[in-house]
Amino acid sequence: MATIFIDNQPYEVCSGQSLLQQCLTLGMDIPYFCWHPALGAVGACRQCAVKEFRDEKDTQGRVVMSCMTPIKDGMRISVNDPQVREFRAHVIEWLMENHPHDCPICDEGGECHLQDMTVMSGHTYRRYRFKKRTFRNQDLGPCINHEMNRCITCYRCIRFYQDYAGGHDLRAFASKDHVYFGRHTDGTLESEFSGNLVEICPTGVFTDKTLKKHYTRKWDLQTSPSVCVHCGLGCNIIVGERYGKVRRILNRYNGQVNGYFLCDRGRFGYEFVNGDKRLRQPSLGAYERSALATKPQTLAAMADLVRNDRRLIGIGSPRASLEANFALKTLVGADRFYLGTSDTDTHLVATILDILQRSPAKIASLYDVERADAVFILGEDVSNTAPRLALALRQALRTAFGGLLETLHIAPWLDRAARQASALEAASPIYIATPNATRLDDIARGLFRAAPDDIARLGFAVAHELSTQAPAVTDLTDEMGSRAAAIAAALRQASHPLIISGIGCASPAVIHAAANVVAALCEIGKDAQLCLTVAEVNSLGLAMIGGHRLSEAFAVVHEDGAPTVIVLENDLYRRASQSSVDAFLKVAGHVIVIDHTANNTTAMADCRLPAATFAEGSGTFVSSEARAQRFFSTVGPSENVQESWRWVRDIAAIRGSEPASGWNRLDDVTAACAQTVPLLHSIPEAAPNANFRIVGQKIPREPHRASGRTAIHAQEHISEHRPPTDRDSPFAFSMEGALNPPPAALIPVYWAPRWNSVAATAKFQSEVGGPLRGGDPGVRLIEPAPTAIPIYAVEVPAAFQRRSQEWLVLPLYYVFGSEELSAQAPAVADRSPTPYLCLNPEDAAAFGGAEDCRVGLTINGDVYDLPIQLMNDLPVGIAGLPDGLPGIPTASLPAWGTLARGLPL
Ligand code: SF4
Ligand code: SF4
Ligand code: FES
Repeated sequence: MATIFIDNQPYEVCSGQSLLQQCLTLGMDIPYFCWHPALGAVGACRQCAVKEFRDEKDTQGRVVMSCMTPIKDGMRISVNDPQVREFRAHVIEWLMENHPHDCPICDEGGECHLQDMTVMSGHTYRRYRFKKRTFRNQDLGPCINHEMNRCITCYRCIRFYQDYAGGHDLRAFASKDHVYFGRHTDGTLESEFSGNLVEICPTGVFTDKTLKKHYTRKWDLQTSPSVCVHCGLGCNIIVGERYGKVRRILNRYNGQVNGYFLCDRGRFGYEFVNGDKRLRQPSLGAYERSALATKPQTLAAMADLVRNDRRLIGIGSPRASLEANFALKTLVGADRFYLGTSDTDTHLVATILDILQRSPAKIASLYDVERADAVFILGEDVSNTAPRLALALRQALRTAFGGLLETLHIAPWLDRAARQASALEAASPIYIATPNATRLDDIARGLFRAAPDDIARLGFAVAHELSTQAPAVTDLTDEMGSRAAAIAAALRQASHPLIISGIGCASPAVIHAAANVVAALCEIGKDAQLCLTVAEVNSLGLAMIGGHRLSEAFAVVHEDGAPTVIVLENDLYRRASQSSVDAFLKVAGHVIVIDHTANNTTAMADCRLPAATFAEGSGTFVSSEARAQRFFSTVGPSENVQESWRWVRDIAAIRGSEPASGWNRLDDVTAACAQTVPLLHSIPEAAPNANFRIVGQKIPREPHRASGRTAIHAQEHISEHRPPTDRDSPFAFSMEGALNPPPAALIPVYWAPRWNSVAATAKFQSEVGGPLRGGDPGVRLIEPAPTAIPIYAVEVPAAFQRRSQEWLVLPLYYVFGSEELSAQAPAVADRSPTPYLCLNPEDAAAFGGAEDCRVGLTINGDVYDLPIQLMNDLPVGIAGLPDGLPGIPTASLPAWGTLARGLPL
């Protein structure tokens, strides 16, 4: 800590940070542009000027940039000195010379950092009378809109895109008055983090193109805190809605999870909620002859299906909330509840849950990942399976070179200097062992491309190098042995080593190997951490609730004689082969599907009950960090759509069975789940319950407005509808309610007086860039047992042997296209690959050897005709199939398949 004097008042502040960051933490309003709490300082915009005095006798002082000035004990500064105020007003005046002043038609208007800073700096009169420079805008693809005339040359965009996220196709071009931020030519921005430009750019240069299609001003949006549903990381989001349509997703700061950034799948994948495949009304009867019905009609019709049938079977889902899965399990009974994941995934996630519960290492949050100083990734292409994790790993570079920066007396937040110093060193101590090349390879010190079994062997060998208690690997090649020794040495030297694996290459042996490495590190006294990724938003939560394998449901249905099956938010055709799902649904007496989007399974149902999506319902998910997080509805309730747990409750009421009574609100189900499932006992703490009030008032979902709300349907009626009541949360569907800042888990929007843009986040943090006041949202369900004795897996797999005329076909996950729901959003679909088969060029040579050749792949008797895509790094004898794309049988992978020359193009 240090004491500094600001305008002659003493303040206790943190040393080691910049003056700007500390002044903002103290609540002072200093305008800035190029500085960002995650990007650090480069001193480019000259907007954050303050005056620094040598001592109390110094009356002149000198103008300094507060973002570039370190805190010194006893320093004296002035924020309000007339000279610096004038300086700041002049700076913004010349930054604004070429700005078009088109706020009324700018998508950023009303939530623009440039607008806020202009007002804050006191620049009110435009003296510039000359022609403004203008630029040609680019088509940057389906996600980002480009309007370069609004640029103020703060360089934040390329500092984020290139330096922070590792992107290559966004650059600064030209010089002087004509600096241009864009691509060398029109085209979709390649980085999966491009959407963050919308929030990083302090003006309206980069804006959300998906919002533009159904544009609504910030003050007309209804917003709620929510959780991204498109992978297992559970990044925190703010959902914006108007008139029943989700309009956009913004980042919701969580210091332990996603910080300031999301991936593009999370930001732009929301439009499945507005899609034409949505189920918005119950329907009865076979799909092609189905009839739409009202909710009471449906429940009456279902009575015959479920009242007398004691043989209900329930299929859960990793994309449904804890409450929905728990309700279904309660209804059908533990013996008749089946996890709706492929048997492979069920086994992998159960393995992960078991390891996490007995591991002596902490499960790493993304905050922890950024602070790791050596990383070993086994089998996981995290850029595709858990994109935000890959972004966090890129920042671990800075931690790895912390010692070097200290020696050179460079503060880590002095961004340009710190990056240049780090570049003097070799790549960071990140070691990646995967079957295919990854987008993190450019920062890795060691790469190993191999089959899953060989990756597992490398992991087992590293663990044995660290501790002889861990099993040894026999017949290891010299090359593998020295590789294992090098990785072990780097991990041993590190202060915060991190081991990452997951279900990406579908190998339990790889996950066990990762667990052995982390156990060995803990055994030798290292502060090691573990991160195991899972595929879906509630994969870990579903495993915690527990249930039988899907294949067991397929068997039981035959023995049971046509029971009624209830499928919860799940397309079973993505979980098992078509023939087995067809047989299952055919034998079932009746099939009731509760889901929000039409798919192949809903097409086979006798009864379709429209479920709420994350935007229309509230509930709890458990992330791969074992963090339970609450999400809240943003769209008001509708007549026929309701949360899945409410449909289950209604079915129970018909049957007169559990859980029919007493479940009126989400809190009732959450509490019952917490009481029943020991691992979930603390989930009610994930957020305050529905009774929470601030000075007796609810929290408004809409911001207060000085003028009236813009009425879109004014031609029909000038009055707004009466807002609906929300029984499940402390939020109001209106602008009525408390204005005081809510607890961290209940922040529906970032806004503070004078701060209308996302930069208002700082006003909710206990220190700028640090945790939110009261702690970051969510509750961790698994913590390490410090005294746990490491238990090592002992089954080391044999080395991979390629087969003659057969290929081991592995699933390859893609950030765009592999995930079921986001793939239906037009912006994501546009960036998804078309199905193909990946082969090493050596293997591909037998089938024509070029990318325009086709190949016939046979797996389990089914033949798929696919074009070849060459993948240099893929080991010989292995083929890769894009996971989740239409017509790709990834539920049954990995599997051995044969290849034949395919149909000509
Ligand atoms: S495009 Fe935006 S972020 Fe980039 S330099 Fe211009 S104003 Fe700054
Ligand atoms: S990393 Fe995963 S959770 Fe985070 S925004 Fe992307 S898809 Fe959503
Ligand atoms: S914010 Fe300090 S110079 Fe830009």
